[in-house]
Amino acid sequence: MARILLVSTIVLVLAIAVPFLTPKTVFDEKKLAEIARKALAKESKNATRIINNVIDLMRKEYPDYIEKGDKWLFNNAGGAMGSMTVLHASFSEYVIIFGSAIGTEGHTGRFLADDWFTILYGEQWAYKAGAIEREVYKPGDQHHLPFGVAKGYRMPEACWALEYARGNILSMMPFGIFDTFSSTLDLWTLWETVEVSGTQMIKNLLRGKI
Ligand SMILES: *[C@@H]1O[C@H](CO)[C@@H](O)[C@H](O)[C@H]1NC(C)=O
Repeated sequence: MARILLVSTIVLVLAIAVPFLTPKTVFDEKKLAEIARKALAKESKNATRIINNVIDLMRKEYPDYIEKGDKWLFNNAGGAMGSMTVLHASFSEYVIIFGSAIGTEGHTGRFLADDWFTILYGEQWAYKAGAIEREVYKPGDQHHLPFGVAKGYRMPEACWALEYARGNILSMMPFGIFDTFSSTLDLWTLWETVEVSGTQMIKNLLRGKI
């Protein structure tokens, strides 16, 4: 309990301070697409192996910035439910593996950040308000959700992706956790999400990675 209060307080203080600091981004969406394609060239059928291969390649490419990826959390946001493992979280970037073993559907969120969703397994469908026909993303495709843009999306069946966001990451947090209060009441997941993201954000900050 003391730890969650400490982490929450530090995150809050930093939320106020960080916009005045200059971000230092380390990831590149083109490189991530390349890593996904490399992993898919090696294995394209078994989702578990694809994900493990992607995490291995990411750790090789970004040894200082990518976590082991062995802790999985549920994520309910925008009416969709998935699970994720946080590979990197700092104030200007995050990298996660996100998806669902059974499919899901919801609102992408509208963020003060750019988001690149590189499909590793299955399909993701999306549409903007007013689009009569859907966009379809398949393994190796990269779905870019630009700053300030929102879409409806669906994973019609099992689907996994390497997701990279760059921008004001803290501003994305309310979207990422509010379904806890309006729907799931899964406080364990909330605590784990705050702990995992907060710990990585602070760890990165302390070594100058904003
Ligand atoms: C995929 O690979 C994992 C790990 O090698 C294995 O445990 C699992 O059974 C495989 N899944 C399928 C559907 O073959």
